[in-house]
Amino acid sequence: MIRIPVEASRNYEVLIERGLLDRAGTEVRAATRAGSAVLVAGENVWPLYGARVRRSLEEAGLRVLSFVIAPGESNKTLETYGSLLRFLSENRLTRSDVLIALGGGVTGDLTGFAAATYQRGIDFIQIPTTLLAMVDSSVGGKTAVDLPTGKNQVGAFWQPALVLCDPDTLRTLPEEEYRCGSAEVLKYGVLGNAVFFEELLRTPIREQEEHVIETCVTMKRDIVRQDEFDRGLRQLLNLGHSFGHAVEACSGFRVLHGQAVAIGMALIARAAAAKGICTPETRDAIVEGLRRTGLPTETEYPLAELAAAVSMDKKLSGSTMHLIVPVEVGRCETITVPLAAIPGWLRAGGVR
Ligand code: NAD
Ligand code: GLY
Repeated sequence: MIRIPVEASRNYEVLIERGLLDRAGTEVRAATRAGSAVLVAGENVWPLYGARVRRSLEEAGLRVLSFVIAPGESNKTLETYGSLLRFLSENRLTRSDVLIALGGGVTGDLTGFAAATYQRGIDFIQIPTTLLAMVDSSVGGKTAVDLPTGKNQVGAFWQPALVLCDPDTLRTLPEEEYRCGSAEVLKYGVLGNAVFFEELLRTPIREQEEHVIETCVTMKRDIVRQDEFDRGLRQLLNLGHSFGHAVEACSGFRVLHGQAVAIGMALIARAAAAKGICTPETRDAIVEGLRRTGLPTETEYPLAELAAAVSMDKKLSGSTMHLIVPVEVGRCETITVPLAAIPGWLRAGGVR
């Protein structure tokens, strides 16, 4: 078993092992004193893994309630969040109980935000079942729901009590969703680990899942330890996200998060090369790495529409925004640009 300790406002461990779902109860018992657990899962994930996790929790002596949500980003809303809170309250959950998110980033973000706010905060545990959630969203304590005006507009920093990654669950993940996770994995290589980036190009992620999850989680852990509340260094993890979120929003969330991040990384790599921040070779390595992983690198949304969507991003600070730009593979920088310059950046990224 791989154990990665995370130091933040709450310390916890990320455990990685095949078959871990069947030992969830023992690990939850060791991490919390909860009497009752509410297991939150999406409609796709519940029939695959719900009963196994439930059985394991019950065998460990927990009373288990389940709450199943409709899948997809379009359900990461205040409405779903409100129904979960009402469910907790109607079932008399208390601050000594625990919420458990079983699923991808949508389930994790939503459950985490409910945990952060229900009775001013109760424990929650992440059991990520997508590659994206294993390498990124389940770790670091960012929780949120979307508003019609933009993604993750309402949220809180609330660290989990434990993260359980069972890579066996990735076998049922649709190929397209797997590739979405691959975009976030490549992101780690570009932002801080050139050796890892090369490894990813040599060996498919499927053939080195534990190593990939461990490497990404360790990198994120090190960043979160230094900047849990996203005031500086942590913004590096948003590589590809500023323009990516805009693509996601323009598509009405038909373009999946990981696909959008891939497009965002390609746009910013092209723009960085056009502005002399990185070399054309660095740009090509990033764009080619994304393409070889089967990820999109272009967007057809027009410049004005994308620029308007970028201006809704919560990473804006007044009339400026932070952009994460690659200097070389393995090294990125955060730069602050006036909002008025965004159309120029998108044009340099190849948007027409
Ligand atoms: P997701 O949660 O929508 O899951 C993708 C799809 O796969 C869903 O339809 C889900 O039901 C299905 N699924 C999940 N696990 C499965 C499995 N093992 N087998 C079969 N189907 C399975 O998407 P995601 O890519 O995991 O997460 C994206 C979300 O994460 C976005 O809302 C994004 O904003 C958020 N996010 C948050 C953070 C953070 O730090 N909190 C970081 C990155 C992304
Ligand atoms: N995924 C971005 C972050 O956790 O900061």
